[in-house]
Amino acid sequence: MHHYTRTLKLFCLAILLCLLFQPAMAQKTPVSRLSSSDSIKIETLLSKMTLDEKLGQLSLFASDWDVTGPILNSNYKQLIRDGKVGAILNAYTVDFVKPLQKMAVEESRLKIPLIFGYDVIHGHRTIFPIPLGQAASWDLLSIEKAEQISAMEASAEGINWTFAPMVDIARDPRWGRVSEGAGEDTWLGCRIAEARVRGFQGKGYADGRHVLACVKHFAAYGAPLGGRDYNTVDISSVSLYETYLPPYKACIDAGVATLMTSFNEINGVPSTANRWLLTDLLRKEWGFRGFVVTDYLSINQMVNHGNAADVKDAASLAMNSGVDMDMMGSAFLEHIPALLKEKKVKIADIDEAVRRILTTKIQLGLFDDPYRFCNKQREQTEIMTKESLDFARKLVAESCVLLKNDHQTLPVPASVKTIAVIGPLGDTKKEMLGNWIAAGQWEKCVSLLDGIRNKCGDKVRVIYEKGCAINDNELSGIDAAVKAAGEADFVLLALGEGGEMSGEAASRTSIELPGVQNQLAAAVVKTGKPTAVVLFNGRPLAISYLNDIAPAILETWFGGTQAGNGIADVLFGDVNPSGKITMSFPRNTGQIPVFYNCKNTGRPFNPDGPKDKYVSQYLDCPNTPLYPFGYGLSYTSFSYSGIKAVVVGNTITITSNVTNTGDRDGEEIVQLYIQDKVGSITRPLKELKGFKKLLIRKGDTVSVSFTLTAADLAFYHPDLKKYWEPGEFNAFVGGSSDKVISAPFKL
Ligand code: NOJ
Repeated sequence: MHHYTRTLKLFCLAILLCLLFQPAMAQKTPVSRLSSSDSIKIETLLSKMTLDEKLGQLSLFASDWDVTGPILNSNYKQLIRDGKVGAILNAYTVDFVKPLQKMAVEESRLKIPLIFGYDVIHGHRTIFPIPLGQAASWDLLSIEKAEQISAMEASAEGINWTFAPMVDIARDPRWGRVSEGAGEDTWLGCRIAEARVRGFQGKGYADGRHVLACVKHFAAYGAPLGGRDYNTVDISSVSLYETYLPPYKACIDAGVATLMTSFNEINGVPSTANRWLLTDLLRKEWGFRGFVVTDYLSINQMVNHGNAADVKDAASLAMNSGVDMDMMGSAFLEHIPALLKEKKVKIADIDEAVRRILTTKIQLGLFDDPYRFCNKQREQTEIMTKESLDFARKLVAESCVLLKNDHQTLPVPASVKTIAVIGPLGDTKKEMLGNWIAAGQWEKCVSLLDGIRNKCGDKVRVIYEKGCAINDNELSGIDAAVKAAGEADFVLLALGEGGEMSGEAASRTSIELPGVQNQLAAAVVKTGKPTAVVLFNGRPLAISYLNDIAPAILETWFGGTQAGNGIADVLFGDVNPSGKITMSFPRNTGQIPVFYNCKNTGRPFNPDGPKDKYVSQYLDCPNTPLYPFGYGLSYTSFSYSGIKAVVVGNTITITSNVTNTGDRDGEEIVQLYIQDKVGSITRPLKELKGFKKLLIRKGDTVSVSFTLTAADLAFYHPDLKKYWEPGEFNAFVGGSSDKVISAPFKL
């Protein structure tokens, strides 16, 4: 009888929970709603859990397989047995993960399975171009597919949770983490963020080949002062809402399962203690249903921030703000029991956090089969498949951006007999992975030299000279490089940063080419041999000097496993480059931040006007970047004509003709920008509102059309309300943010 009443109570509670959760179901979640039996399962488990076991579910610890930060507590195996771990990070391969899961489901008292998380940022084993490179493809389907493959590979090796996508908008390339994001634009950042969530999570986890995504870093981690990683963020409310928050929201709307807090503060409050951010905005306003994990030790680090006296205080702030899972800090485990006794935290909040994590485990299917992501056979057959590698190669080529191509230096002419590959990035597999290499194996990478040799076979002699190191002052190799250039009839100059010079904790105060690479370039170019620079880098670089001297520059980022093959496809013209940069390249470091959607100011500089001292300008450098957002050349050329903007009611249709004026077929990324000419608050000179990536045959003209509604013109006001204002607008269409044709319209 007692048992029956208890079950009935749980059942009623479960129904109540389902009803309570109803409104948020409008969200496009890829996971099905919990059945009442699952809700009962969760409530039953909760009722059996000790406080320590509850706090265990809220704790994430690293294994000793990989290191992505400092380790405070290395006793993770014992903690698993004690039921004091909810999830493990930095563990993969079936042989490594399975025994850990076994420990949880066989040796811990309640046998609750673990979630396994990892930074699968641009591929798991098959490494794709860094996210900033993928963004340059503007190919949402390809970006989604890259994440699908990443999820398939990671889930075959025990992982069911990735700490991606990073959707932090960033305008300062000194910040090394720009390599992990989609660049400077909010609208494009949202589209790419959604695509990545779709790729990782698919329609759910039933097929065992998708993983939980984790949108990060909430919020505004991409705006640290001076571009120094982990530094303070100081931001106006309007720009927070208008520029930085939308990509996180886009992920929530796309059904992202988890969210990571950021290391930085906003208005003096570190995100991990920001109740407004984590509860009022995220949960109440945006309806987020998944769980919130801190970034690595970010509870403990509040003591350094100075908003908490000690870790206990910090744990209380985090719990009361809406954090569900503590990454690496042991802060919840160690301090919540006392905080609970002192009534500084509520058991209801702890239970709610546990519910969220158990719900996620149910959705992953871990209670049905804790080993469903540990499949030896899949590990053999689904990793680095031919199809995945072919796709990676295609994405490398799609991510390349042709920055300069005087006198059609590229593609490499078919008549070439000897090619000299010169430079510190020319013959390295290791650097091709960039940063956040997950389980990528550099030995399996195709270097630029390999790629060129694969392409040329015996038909062309390919020689290599390093010339100098990536980042030191040694000039002694330059003579040999010049000699090699002398022997060749075409030179590929492989320059740039090392893979680890961008990414986390990799900020730079000068983003010029490191070391003596400019000297190497000068000496080689002086030989007069046709030369194309192949640039490798994790951030926009300030390459004004190189731009002045080199006839051609191909931006290739860090392409990953298939880097050399994909780049060779572009260099030799098998693929016509179509990438466009999504972050402006400054002329020099002092010009930062320079981004396309800036304001006019009260004293704008007019390049066509009379000389005037008292305008917004530098004495020593133009205002414009070296290469603007949306810029990228092709082996063919495109021209734009006949733009029209027609308004019917609240709908605006913008049409334009685009002609391929060159002598080969090519893809063009046609961009739509809008300017709101007069606003109650100042508006950017241009804002991206759409794009189309089109294959246009040589000689063909296509008509491109975009439809916007008035709602697309809405913006945040100082009262943080979002609405559009009637008046005059300009529509711009073009192949780069600085080269557009325009049509006015009124609304
Ligand atoms: C710290 C980084 O900020 C975060 O992006 C990453 O996911 C965690 N470390 C785990 O490695």
